[in-house]
Amino acid sequence: MTDAPVPQQLLPRHVAIIMDGNGRWAKKRGMPRAFGHRKGVEALEPIIEACGQWGIEALTLFAFSTENWARPKDEVNALMGLINEFFNRKIDELNRKGVCIRMLGDLSGVPEPQRRVAEAAMARTGNNTGLKLNIALNYGSQQEILRAAQRLARKCASGEMAPEDIDDEAFSAQLYTAGLPKVDLLIRTSGEQRISNFLLYQIAYAELVFVEENWPDFTREVFARALTTYAQRDRRFGKV
Ligand code: IPE
Ligand code: IPE
Ligand code: MG
Repeated sequence: MTDAPVPQQLLPRHVAIIMDGNGRWAKKRGMPRAFGHRKGVEALEPIIEACGQWGIEALTLFAFSTENWARPKDEVNALMGLINEFFNRKIDELNRKGVCIRMLGDLSGVPEPQRRVAEAAMARTGNNTGLKLNIALNYGSQQEILRAAQRLARKCASGEMAPEDIDDEAFSAQLYTAGLPKVDLLIRTSGEQRISNFLLYQIAYAELVFVEENWPDFTREVFARALTTYAQRDRRFGKV
C-alpha cells in the first residue's frame, strides 16, 4: 500500500490506541483542558486515513472510559460536545472512504444526543468493507467482561448452551469486539504506561508500544514509528 512504513506482512491487523495526554498538552500551552481535547479530535483524521491507506484492518480508539464520568462536569460536557461534532463533521467522508464504524461500550449510559449520532453512524456505515473503526465510548473492559459472563450464564441457565461450551470463541463472541481479530498492537500516548481498563481480554498477546508524545502531537510520522517498533518485535506466543 502507499508509503506504508513496513512491509504489508509485518503490519498489525488490529491496532488499538489509548489516546492520552490531551489535558497535559493544553496545560503546557497555558490553555484549558477542553482545548487539548479539541486538538485531540483534529489529530484523528490523519491516523484514520493512514490506516486505510496502509491496509490496516481494524483501528480501535479509546475515546471515553466508564471512569471518565468522574471528571469535572464542564470537561465531560466538552468531551460529549466534541463527540457529536466529530460525527456530524466527519461521517460523510468516513462513509465515502468505506470506513465501517462500531461503537464499543455501554451506549445506554451515554447522553441521548451522543447515543443518537453514534447509532446513526453505525447504521449508516455498518455494511462498509473498508477500515473497521471502533470507537470506545463509555467503555470499561471489566464491565465488558462481566457483561459477557452474564450473557453466557444466562444461555447456560436457559439450556441454550452448556458450561463446557464456553471457550475463547464463545467468550469473544459476547464482547463488544465480537468478530474482530485480537489486538496485535496497543499504543498509548503521553508516556503513561498503564492499560486503564482497556481491552483486557483482547490484548492477551498484543505488543505494547508507549510513546512520549501527547495525543494531539500523534502524527502520521509518530504512528509510522510505532508500527516500525512493532515490526521489529519478535512475537513468540509462548513458543521458542
Ligand atoms: C485523553 O487525554 C482524553 C480522555 C481521557 C478523554 P486526557 O484528558 O486524559 O489528558 P491528560 O492525561 O489529563 O493529560
Ligand atoms: C484512558 O485515559 C481513557 C481514554 C484515553 C479515553 P485516562 O487519562 O482516563 O486514564 P488514567 O486516568 O490516566 O488511567
Ligand atoms: Mg489521561
